[in-house]
Amino acid sequence: MCGIIGYVGNRKAQDVILKGLSRLEYRGYDSAGAAILNHDGVDLIKRQGKLKILADALAKKPIEGKTGIGHTRWATHGIPNDRNAHPHTDCTGKIAVVHNGIIENYLELKNSLLKDGHKFSSQTDTEVIPHLIEKFYKGDLEKAVVKAIKLLKGSYAIAVVHKDSPDRVVGARLDSPLVVGIGKGENFIASDVPAILDYTNSVLYLDNNEVVTITRSGVKVSDISGGQINKKPVKIKWDISAAEKSGYPHFMLKEIFEQADVLRKVLEERTERGKVSFEELKITDAELKKFKRIAIVACGTAYHAGLTGKYMLEEYAKIPVWVDTSSEFRYRDPIVGPGTLVIIVSQSGETADSLAALREAKKRGAKVLGICNVLGSSIAREADGVIYTHAGPEIAVASTKAYTAQLGILYLLTLYLARLHKTITPARYKGLLKEFERVPRLMDDLLGEYRSEYNTIAAYAQEFKRYYFARQNKSYFLYLARNINFPNALEGALKLKEISYISAEGYPAGEMKHGPIALIDENPWVVCIATQSKTYDKMLSNIQEIKARGGIIIAIATEGDKEILHHKVNYMLEIPKVAELFSPLLVVIPLQLLAYYVAKEFGYDIDQPRNLAKSVTVE
Ligand code: F6R
Repeated sequence: MCGIIGYVGNRKAQDVILKGLSRLEYRGYDSAGAAILNHDGVDLIKRQGKLKILADALAKKPIEGKTGIGHTRWATHGIPNDRNAHPHTDCTGKIAVVHNGIIENYLELKNSLLKDGHKFSSQTDTEVIPHLIEKFYKGDLEKAVVKAIKLLKGSYAIAVVHKDSPDRVVGARLDSPLVVGIGKGENFIASDVPAILDYTNSVLYLDNNEVVTITRSGVKVSDISGGQINKKPVKIKWDISAAEKSGYPHFMLKEIFEQADVLRKVLEERTERGKVSFEELKITDAELKKFKRIAIVACGTAYHAGLTGKYMLEEYAKIPVWVDTSSEFRYRDPIVGPGTLVIIVSQSGETADSLAALREAKKRGAKVLGICNVLGSSIAREADGVIYTHAGPEIAVASTKAYTAQLGILYLLTLYLARLHKTITPARYKGLLKEFERVPRLMDDLLGEYRSEYNTIAAYAQEFKRYYFARQNKSYFLYLARNINFPNALEGALKLKEISYISAEGYPAGEMKHGPIALIDENPWVVCIATQSKTYDKMLSNIQEIKARGGIIIAIATEGDKEILHHKVNYMLEIPKVAELFSPLLVVIPLQLLAYYVAKEFGYDIDQPRNLAKSVTVE
């Protein structure tokens, strides 16, 4: 979490920093700050709250200078306030540091620095860094940074400026991302590519234990033992418009509407003449054939994609699959080894728990395949093989299009493995791929129904709000489904609670009778995923059970389903007819939109929900 940026060039550093931070705000948004070098030394500004507050302050009282660093924060150590906001400085005020990550041994370092007479002014772990650099600085900033980071335990991406080293920013990383942007007469460092894409599409990805110094005229990368490293720049193919709202009121809505194209791209890139191919996989077919089982490990929405993957892989590729959240996997004693393929699913490719799970799996001799969206991310680089989802930048904190893309890749992987293991006939393989290829079009049709601001789901959300207040705020949501749509019940609930702060739970519908049915009275709104499937009749029985106890039902059904109407559901949302296997791709659309419109009705900040950040690089 947290976003950092550093700039050296001929532009006003303040403008570059503010623009960059606005593209990193998804990483954290409880406070922001900047340090700019000019004739006064290090000019510092920090503000609690959203970036706009910092931008307004800088508009009133601009800071001159062409070298600087900036930060947008997601608090870990110390409450969000001006004092704890970054950048942090040393005792002399000559050194300023921004940091993304956690310094685990900061207390020990702080105590020893206090003994040496250093004065601290925040409650953060970060503040030890400028004081350590101060301690080691003997006229060479890079050397002092290297000495300081050698003492740090935990994770960090940092950017550092020093009054006496004008026109330069030093950066370093360990387990938190840092990219270097190469411009003409200007250079950048940042937590993520969108922060610098307005200025350059040529980037270097810094690796762990590497240190970078940027000046106006160059970029120097070295390892912490001082050896220079020659890195090849990578050209970023997408342009900045992909990271803008393009007329949509929120990134989340834009990203929901991008899903048909995302899926189309997934299919186009990985299929050729009726066959699935993963050119970049780096795990051979012979190796793939040998795996006795698959473990899918991920967090949050990516975990839900993994759960759906279990249903498809077991049914069609006939391989036993278990799915685990990364935070549990890493601290258990997971039984993985050379016979297991571990698939780590991660949009950002930086999630700390998933990265740790990857390392644990590798340590135990398993092969690891990453399914990632962010190019060059840590998980993508450390995995034995990677399949990129190429969904483009996902800015809204609530993940939508990355989920669809992850599902898309898992479908293709299922077909690939089913073919390899000969668990389906060539005709069935062809038929399934054909059905999959219909989905982007069906998704277009479905999304088309919700283009207008005044659509069915928006109306249901209004209705819910009225009901919620009429019942003294006691209403909440339950999501029920069976089989391959059960993970969608979890996903629908996650989307709703993370952006509308209304309690929501997802259950396998068959589990209701084992406890959760006790919850049912007139308060909950129960979203029942009852599309045509082998468990359709069972879902109808569950609907009856809920109706009998007073619950309000929103049914998600297949278009043209007349039978469900006899069950007197209160509200209904239809999805186009599609094979049950691929239905999760369509079912999730109304779930995402329901969460969106409920949050909108309640007036919440949809793209930046409270307490959350897009990429969770802390434990
Ligand atoms: C929910 C959401 C999170 C992420 C989770 C994993 O909308 O976005 O639950 O899915 O933090 O993140 P990645 O996929 O980046 O590892």
